[in-house]
Amino acid sequence: MIVPKPVRNEPGPGSFELDERTSLTAAPALGEVAAWLRAELAPVTGGELLPGPGSGTITLVLGDLPPEGYRLTVGADVEIVAGGPAGAFYGAQTFRQLLTPDAFRRAGRGPFRVPGVRVEDEPRFGWRGCLLDVARHFMTKHDLLRFIDLMALHKLNVLHLHLTDDQGWRLEIRRYPRLTEVGAWRKESQTGWNGAMDGRPHGGYYTQDDIREIVAYAARRHIMVVPEVDMPGHTQAAIAAHPELGNLVEPLEVGSTWGIGDNVLNVEESTIEFFQNVLEEVLELFPAPYVCVGGDEARKDQWKASPAAQRRIRELGLRDEEELQSWFVRRFGDFLAARGRRLVGWDEILEGGLAPGAVVASWRGDLGAVAAARRGHDVINCANTSLYFDYRQSPGEDEPVPFGTVLTLEDVYAFEPVPAELRGQPAAGHVLGAQCCVWTELIDSTRQVDYMAFPRLAAFAETVWSPAGRDLPDFRARLDAHLERLDAIGVEYRRATGPLPWQTRPGVPGRPEDPAGWQAQIDAWTSNLRHLR
Ligand code: ACM
Repeated sequence: MIVPKPVRNEPGPGSFELDERTSLTAAPALGEVAAWLRAELAPVTGGELLPGPGSGTITLVLGDLPPEGYRLTVGADVEIVAGGPAGAFYGAQTFRQLLTPDAFRRAGRGPFRVPGVRVEDEPRFGWRGCLLDVARHFMTKHDLLRFIDLMALHKLNVLHLHLTDDQGWRLEIRRYPRLTEVGAWRKESQTGWNGAMDGRPHGGYYTQDDIREIVAYAARRHIMVVPEVDMPGHTQAAIAAHPELGNLVEPLEVGSTWGIGDNVLNVEESTIEFFQNVLEEVLELFPAPYVCVGGDEARKDQWKASPAAQRRIRELGLRDEEELQSWFVRRFGDFLAARGRRLVGWDEILEGGLAPGAVVASWRGDLGAVAAARRGHDVINCANTSLYFDYRQSPGEDEPVPFGTVLTLEDVYAFEPVPAELRGQPAAGHVLGAQCCVWTELIDSTRQVDYMAFPRLAAFAETVWSPAGRDLPDFRARLDAHLERLDAIGVEYRRATGPLPWQTRPGVPGRPEDPAGWQAQIDAWTSNLRHLR
């Protein structure tokens, strides 16, 4: 009943009893994993799980396995053999799932008896990500740490933090305090799709100390935090704080409505320097080898109308505004490469040519993934047609604030990270993995994040962790057991029967289902990206 499904899982002889006398020992290299497991299990056993004589022993040791691989044997004792700390952590996560759901509570319900079993496991993909948009709606540090724990339960290993957008700048930058003094707050927010505003201020940001804590907390759970500072579009909050970064004379406010905005950065050398200074602080805070600079949905109207941008195009000998965007993104790719990091950008960055080494986060269906991989770029598949968790979970009228199209649990479970057009080809090797995306324009609280992300995130986890091939009835049976774990933790997931009354949004209008409009959108993306192949 393990989620995500392990590679092999067979019954074995004997059984293990976890109680207050259980002891836990670990190889020195696995000490942190042991400390984490102790902290998780101690409240439910009432014991300390120290090394030494006990009624049963849990042992963590290193063995000749891939770094994220493990072998878990449960009999009279428990042994986790792992290729490295990550593998030991995943083995420990699997062990927790062998206990009853009560083991996920914060107070004692033991002892727990676990039937003998042998599990052999390793992930299919190295990039098992989730994007969390903390720009449109801020998530408190406490709730973000909880979300990291939920990702770790599902053996995900990349948290892509979307930190900046038109509607909010969520990261303290010491050199430019106005980014958060001004950019972290907006007067009000749009509710639903009829333009109505809630009249209520919204905001928040993470201090640099918060970020160090979040990064360390995630690292301890073998999750890499990849920061995103979106540019040149999605920058209205930054321009509101620093008007010299924009193209207009009139001042701007931090955005309060949703959709693709017109406001983009100007292309002055001083603006590039400003954002490179921002990135210097980002690099200090986030040790991940990857840094996302967005690049998506940058409207070109302001550059078309700007004499300065047009002069820049001529000076640089570029053809048009698309090439100007490419030049802009390359400046950051070079900047990051010189500091030993790799640029990640949304698939729009393919449109005007791209530096080698850049990683493409493909979101408009599979098209960008295919184009990027064929051109030799590593790819993270974030297909909105399968993995955008802001899209509603059923066509039901009572789904909260519908966005885009319907993506059911079954749609997510059917997702295949390697696009059909790449299968069996060497370019498929460029698919690092996949990433589900929790965009939060219309998700204004952690309770709503729970509702939109779960249980679809569990289905997604199988697509990136478990061997290729799906078995929906088998998944459903395991999911039933898994939902009891989520209940014990206190996750307000969507039930198969639909939203509970407080999960609906009476009075907040959704965008009506418009299959023709949706198809037209997909057709437009297809024609944009088709020529890249
Ligand atoms: C995106 O959804 N604009 C990446």
